[in-house]
Amino acid sequence: MAYSETKCSEWCFVHTDFVVLKKLSGMNHTALITGASKRVGKALAEHLASKGWNIIIHFNSSEKPAEKLENELRQKYPQQKFGRVKANLAIESEVERVIPLVVSEFGPLDLLVNNASVFNPGYLKETDAQLFDSQINVNLKAPFLLMRDFASHCKKGNIINFVDTRITTNKSNFAAYSLSKKGLWELTKMAALEFAPEIRVNAIAPGVTLPPEDKDEKYLWNLAKNIPMKKPGGLEPILKSLDFILENDHLTGQLLFADGGENLGQNA
Ligand SMILES: NC(=O)c1ccc[n+]([C@@H]2O[C@H](COP(=O)([O-])OP(=O)(O)OC[C@H]3O[C@@H](n4cnc5c(N)ncnc54)[C@H](OP(=O)(O)O)[C@@H]3O)[C@@H](O)[C@H]2O)c1
Repeated sequence: MAYSETKCSEWCFVHTDFVVLKKLSGMNHTALITGASKRVGKALAEHLASKGWNIIIHFNSSEKPAEKLENELRQKYPQQKFGRVKANLAIESEVERVIPLVVSEFGPLDLLVNNASVFNPGYLKETDAQLFDSQINVNLKAPFLLMRDFASHCKKGNIINFVDTRITTNKSNFAAYSLSKKGLWELTKMAALEFAPEIRVNAIAPGVTLPPEDKDEKYLWNLAKNIPMKKPGGLEPILKSLDFILENDHLTGQLLFADGGENLGQNA
């Protein structure tokens, strides 16, 4: 689909329903992180920026937090490049514009992190086609299309997919969500095989990490009572898993559980 472009200043390109903002400077490793304006995605962006990466913050509804994060990173790391890209990952045409647009503005990416996700409950019997599509489109189809486009536009680098420790169970209270993440793990292995050796593809499976936005820490600690390590993991195990994947250049098609042993089940 054609789209118009309006130059609104030296650093801002506005497309009709799609925005990329950029600032040029000098570093050479660039990561695109989906859903990077808040929570886990924001922590990934801050962590990689602290290690010298240029960061493209993808967002959908969180425009202000994305802008704030970009400005903070730019101030803290003036030698690096930061930008942001808006796309609704539930809409195929928006997903398919992300990589070509980002690459045209910033050059080839070195890392794609598929972090953005929706997480809505529903047993199988309660899941209508709309709920099914909403989880599958954002959590599986969008990563599929982004990975395909990363491979064809960037040629080499790393892809890291965020799945969920739930993929090890058959609990169906988040049936469509769980299925989307099980699919993303299968896709990780398939892509790792097809894209090797130029592109490594791995996954991280968080467990009890952060409470949903409408719940508090108490909710999280309550959930953590049932996992082997008996406490929420927070962000650190995820960031350490990210580093491990990036630093181990023989690792591909692997899944790191950052879940305090939750994938093992319960010992009683
Ligand atoms: N938090 C946990 O305890 C936990 C546990 C297990 C697995 N995980 C996995 O770890 C990853 C990060 O978790 P999180 O809790 O930080 O995620 P989250 O807050 O639920 O979602 C991250 C971002 O996804 C984006 N997103 C949602 N729908 C979108 C759409 N239609 N188009 C584009 N972006 C969309 C949102 O961006 P906008 O705000 O810009 O709309 C949101 O900020 C996820 O993949 C999640 O499944 C997390």
